[in-house]
Amino acid sequence: MAHEAPLVAALRGTRPDRLPIWFMRQAGRSLPEYRELRVGTHMLDACLTPDMAAEITLQPVRRHDVDAAIFFSDIVVPLKMAGIEVEIVPGRGPVFEHPVRTAADVDRITSIPASAVIDASEPIREAVRITTEELYGRGTPLIGFAGAPFTLAAYLVEGGPSKEHMRARAMMHSDPESWNRLAGWLAEISAAFLGIQVEAGAQAIQLFDSWAGSLSRADYRAFVQPHSARALGSVAGVPRIHFGVGTGPFLDDMALGGLADAVGVDWRTSLADAAAIVGPNTTLQGNIDPAMLQAPWEVLETHVRDVVESGRAARAHVVNLGHGVPPETDPAVLTRIVELVHSL
Ligand code: CP3
Repeated sequence: MAHEAPLVAALRGTRPDRLPIWFMRQAGRSLPEYRELRVGTHMLDACLTPDMAAEITLQPVRRHDVDAAIFFSDIVVPLKMAGIEVEIVPGRGPVFEHPVRTAADVDRITSIPASAVIDASEPIREAVRITTEELYGRGTPLIGFAGAPFTLAAYLVEGGPSKEHMRARAMMHSDPESWNRLAGWLAEISAAFLGIQVEAGAQAIQLFDSWAGSLSRADYRAFVQPHSARALGSVAGVPRIHFGVGTGPFLDDMALGGLADAVGVDWRTSLADAAAIVGPNTTLQGNIDPAMLQAPWEVLETHVRDVVESGRAARAHVVNLGHGVPPETDPAVLTRIVELVHSL
């Protein structure tokens, strides 16, 4: 590419002419063209069908003119690729046939080598290749991603979605040895998934630790941070984003000692406060409140302007939501936000 894309420049710490914006969960149910394409195909089958995954990845880029594509997949896809029985139940989330709760369960699952993910990687590589071919002409980078060990464990130990992730947090204290083996193995699985996407052409990566906000700072540091650092640090040569919800109290720890070029901030923490916490060496990503997408345009516009203003305190800023696009969002609102941000 002739010059650096605005997203990559901002992640690397400079302020490009065009303020970059993209949306977590931009590829998905808010788009009628997505819902149409997905009829009759299970979520995880769609993820492993290259032309479908590529098409869904591209839909929001064409429609909204966002500054990045995020690869259409899911945090549990590498586990499925490793042969683990998992389904995504519509309206609920990932559900595992065999929860991983005891030391014996941990033995069983960690006996699967991370190379199993690599062995099953061809559909992912193919989808990334198709996607980046079309994106290249637009100069839009593709973000590859993976789930962080804690968020994956929150589903795996419980067997499905949970509110406070009690079983995973309990395992840290009741059987720290098993916890560390499980989280270490999940770090390897996520590292493999990130590596596949980058080798095939992704130009940035994001590690999603969506549920890390349920942890205390002390538990985050002792039981989670080293494993996340291993996953995110495994991939070199592209900028790295680390995202969590409710992680305001330990945003400095989320920077992983500089391994993360950018940290995601949810709507609870202002970007000015976040900048004071993370300091001058970390880009911030966020933090439009997803609830504001339902508000009258004047209210939303004021909020978006405030987010951009607050973001000036950071070394650089990638505009995004504080969490994913809710399925009921009117996609025209997202397009209008992109136009507004690009005009600022
Ligand atoms: O547009 C994008 O952001 C790219 C694709 C993407 C999906 N999931 C697609 C998806 C990404 C980056 C994810 C990550 C993911 N998956 C996370 C971390 C990000 C976050 O939102 O916190 C988590 C926690 C999951 C687990 C998961 N998968 C949940 C909670 C759900 C929702 C279940 C439901 O139906 O409400 C999924 C399914 C899922 N992943 C959908 C999509 C588009 C919806 C499935 C469908 O359309 O049927």
